[in-house]
Amino acid sequence: METAQLPRPERIGLRRGWPSSPRARELLRLYSFRDPLSRVEYRLRLAICPFEEVARHVPHDASLLELGCGYGLLANLVALDAPARAVIGIDSEPERIAIAERSARGRPRVSFEVGDVTRIDLPSSDCVAMNDLLHHIPHDRQIPLLEKCYRALPSGGRLLIKDVGKSSLAKYVWNYAHDLIKNRWLPFYCLDTPILVAILEVVGFRVEVERLDAGYPYSHVLYRCFK
Ligand SMILES: C[S@@+](CC[C@H](N)C(=O)[O-])C[C@H]1O[C@@H](n2cnc3c(N)ncnc32)[C@H](O)[C@@H]1O
Repeated sequence: METAQLPRPERIGLRRGWPSSPRARELLRLYSFRDPLSRVEYRLRLAICPFEEVARHVPHDASLLELGCGYGLLANLVALDAPARAVIGIDSEPERIAIAERSARGRPRVSFEVGDVTRIDLPSSDCVAMNDLLHHIPHDRQIPLLEKCYRALPSGGRLLIKDVGKSSLAKYVWNYAHDLIKNRWLPFYCLDTPILVAILEVVGFRVEVERLDAGYPYSHVLYRCFK
């Protein structure tokens, strides 16, 4: 499978031009039915989280299953990049999925479903992605979820996990505080990078780790996991 050749961001972190790029504008247009405040929220999300750096690792000819897809920003970005591929997003919050579904109207290859990914069977896919989901999954459900992802992938398939890292204490604390307030005290189950890598390797993946936090106040880490 070929890796999508999205242009590299010219600047790192908050200083890059991505949230005003043509691709980001195209993405945000899918949410034009939303009120202005919500659209500002999505734009801010695009500014503080390295979506395009995650999307560029989804192979161009791969189907995508996104777990914990929220409003569908990453799933839609990947779908815009190669409209012929199948993209499915799953989230446990029905209101978020209702918005994601509306954003996908008229594009039959993009679909969204309500579901708790720790409890449902996952459909097979060439690529599975989790963008800031894993730290919301209780520790005792993380390994079973990673094993399910492994089973959902074909040989050569990949799991992309973008999550919070602990390498920078200040960024970690900032991320933690942000999540506590934004998610109304939802528990935070962040794993140390070496521990998560060890778990992923035991599950069967070959893992590459990349820090994506340069220039951000948040501690983004990308785990590229190959079956
Ligand atoms: C921090 S948000 C990230 C949303 C989206 N991936 C993004 O990057 O904008 C975490 C999402 O995970 C969802 N979530 C949490 N636990 C879940 C579970 N067990 N099954 C499915 N979705 C879950 C939440 O509803 C929320 O939309």
